[in-house]
Amino acid sequence: MVTSLDAMWDSVDAQISTTAAGGSGGSAASYFIPLQQFLFSFLSRTLLGADTSAASSEIQNSGHIMIDKWLAFQLLPTISINLIQPLEEIFLHSFAFPFWPIKSDYQKLVNFVEKEAKETLDIAQRDFGLTKEEAVHNLLFILGFNAFGGFSILLPNLLTNLGNDKEVQEQLRKEVREKLTAADGLSFDSVKQMDLVNSFVYETLRMKPPVPSQFGRARKDFDLSSHDAVYKVKKGELLCGYQPIVMRDSRIFEKADEFVFDRFSKERGGGDELLKYLFWSNGPQRGGDGPSAGNKQCSGRDMVPLTAAVFLAYLFRRYDEIEVSSGSITALKKAE
Ligand code: HEM
Repeated sequence: MVTSLDAMWDSVDAQISTTAAGGSGGSAASYFIPLQQFLFSFLSRTLLGADTSAASSEIQNSGHIMIDKWLAFQLLPTISINLIQPLEEIFLHSFAFPFWPIKSDYQKLVNFVEKEAKETLDIAQRDFGLTKEEAVHNLLFILGFNAFGGFSILLPNLLTNLGNDKEVQEQLRKEVREKLTAADGLSFDSVKQMDLVNSFVYETLRMKPPVPSQFGRARKDFDLSSHDAVYKVKKGELLCGYQPIVMRDSRIFEKADEFVFDRFSKERGGGDELLKYLFWSNGPQRGGDGPSAGNKQCSGRDMVPLTAAVFLAYLFRRYDEIEVSSGSITALKKAE
């Protein structure tokens, strides 16, 4: 992760110095492409065991764009892009898009998995009884849809929430540098000690859950309780959950509509009790059964916030301050 983050931030630094040298009076770097390149290489390595630097130059340079196109074809029929109605309903939401426009890029991704993720494919076939074909498509789905798709929303949200808030940034930076002793270095274990950094990540997931809606059919009759009512649900009924409402429940969260970066910190009494009400993963962050084959909770429940915490800790190890505005980084002050 750190190697891929080095490449991402080197590229942002280079863009900032080029625009500053351009003499237009300001500097700005759009971080989206470097961020997606970072995600593609880091996630390929961690989820597939595939090294993108050993792949063809086309995959190295454009693998993330191939995934973006594949994602767009699946998501456009289900999301709103604020096109004038009824045009959006008629042209985007009335039929599943065909596969042929993305077939050739998808095949290149399949070839990449077959060639570079051999060991993972062997495990899938030998230990889990999948066919090679099933394993390839499942790995690509987890890589592209679950992980790349989710992080492509979450990490920009983190940067946007940092905005230009010098006070919050100072507290995060202080914590990161205190906890990152030379002996430990940057790791999942060392970021677990960073109470404020973790709280910032959780609060971002609370205010802007990257996958806001969930659907499911009741498997049996049951009673669904809220604070003060009980609803009878019948087997087979279709249920929809909308996370942004659930996670702004003012009976649970004080100042529920405000971004309070240290809300989940131990000092504020956040901790495990409040995390029972954090549902971005389609289940509680603490308590409950945890992700399992029977409940559709995200299997990245623990790995996702930790990865986001490493992302932030890396940032505040490398820089003293950052300014983010409308999808661009407008200033970066390197650590002294
Ligand atoms: C920011 C990143 C992520 C977000 C926001 C996210 C969110 C979610 C949500 C909301 C669901 C439930 C979907 C539904 O049933 O409607 C889900 C399911 C799932 N997620 Fe994630 N996820 C993320 C990253 C990951 C990662 C990194 C992995 C892989 C390790 C992963 C693997 C899965 C799987 C396999 C499911 C399906 C579970 C099932 O139906 O049994 N996710 N994710």
